[in-house]
Amino acid sequence: MQNVLVTGGAGFIGSNFIRYLLATSPIVRITNLDAMTYAGSLENLINLPDPSRHILVQGDITDAVLVGHLLRRYEIDTIVHFAAETHVDRSVLNPQQFIQTNVLGTFTLAEAARQYWLVDQSLHGRVLRFHHISSDEVYGSLKPGEPAWDENCPYAPNSPYAASKAASDHIVRAYGHTYGLPFSITNCSNNYGPYQFPEKLIPLMVLNAWGGKVLPVYGDGQQIRDWLHVADHCEAIYLVITKGKVGETYNIGGGSQPTNLEIVYQLCAILDELYPESPHTPHKMLIQFVADRPGHDQRYAVDFSKIQRELGWKPRHNLGDGLRQTVEWYLDHPQWVSAIQNQPDYQAWISKNYQSRPEKTG
Ligand code: NAD
Ligand code: TYD
Repeated sequence: MQNVLVTGGAGFIGSNFIRYLLATSPIVRITNLDAMTYAGSLENLINLPDPSRHILVQGDITDAVLVGHLLRRYEIDTIVHFAAETHVDRSVLNPQQFIQTNVLGTFTLAEAARQYWLVDQSLHGRVLRFHHISSDEVYGSLKPGEPAWDENCPYAPNSPYAASKAASDHIVRAYGHTYGLPFSITNCSNNYGPYQFPEKLIPLMVLNAWGGKVLPVYGDGQQIRDWLHVADHCEAIYLVITKGKVGETYNIGGGSQPTNLEIVYQLCAILDELYPESPHTPHKMLIQFVADRPGHDQRYAVDFSKIQRELGWKPRHNLGDGLRQTVEWYLDHPQWVSAIQNQPDYQAWISKNYQSRPEKTG
């Protein structure tokens, strides 16, 4: 791996991965292609280790001419594809953009890689890899007592987001099968950690609680997610790209599966402990149960024994310590928080999503 195209590298996991890669691999050069949607921010790329090995190109992954040009211009041997529309609630309200970016965008990248690497044979003899970042949500939803998902579970996506990610996985796998594209795929559970856009559960709850705002728990709060610290995800991706087999899928999970309500209680308790003098202590008094998400998946759990067995990976962070560090990170980065929260789109999104969710009574 020498010349890496990272897509979506100004977002949450992509920017964490760029930091990880620059720090871990002293020779790689990174081209970061990001459309800078509401979810991408220059603030996520401040203070990179060795920034001279990173360039940001503002552009869209559905732009075939641009993607083809970048592959040739930077002699890209490795593509790490994060760029996507990622928020389930937005996919419920506006699915079209998810099909455009996640399905057509992934197709555009795979096709450009095929043309450059396989048809033109431009980097003949070099080690090549198209690594596609995907989600556990492609598997649907588990009932209580059902075993965690392994790589052989059938796809059964429920939200427009999950369906678009499932489609993108199929496109990548088909390009491997039909054309010999040297690909790998990782399907990971819910991430948390620094630089996560505060529309997702954990940063939203931390920042709302800190500001004394309502903590909107959907439905009864008994849904379960499998939480993984983003640093553990980055390490797993690096291992799969450098040591994982071509043509394989690896599931990645955190092994911690509390209910949403337990997560919110835990975040409130951390804030109470860190800031007992806050006028909002006890923060759990801010919790409000609100109208549920349509089609809300009940439970996710990932069986990560394949990546553990084959590549020796397992999560390093336990959830309690990881959440505490995460709360501290958000409170220690007020400039990042205000830059993100002051975007016009952010306030518009908060109004749109939560005004249509009246508090549940009874
Ligand atoms: P994010 O929403 O924080 O960032 C997405 C990035 O992609 C942004 O920088 C955005 O500007 C960019 N982008 C969006 N559309 C684009 C386009 N058309 N062209 C170029 N760039 C575009 O997302 P994230 O949470 O960092 O997720 C990254 C990847 O990981 C996604 O593929 C997601 O499906 C997957 N994933 C996320 C999680 C999670 O918990 N966040 C879990 C498993 C898998
Ligand atoms: P989210 O962070 O949006 O991730 P995903 O939907 O991809 O799992 O949501 C995590 C869980 O938290 C999910 O069950 C929905 C729930 N949730 C709330 O209860 N309230 C909220 O305000 C948000 C954003 C999410």
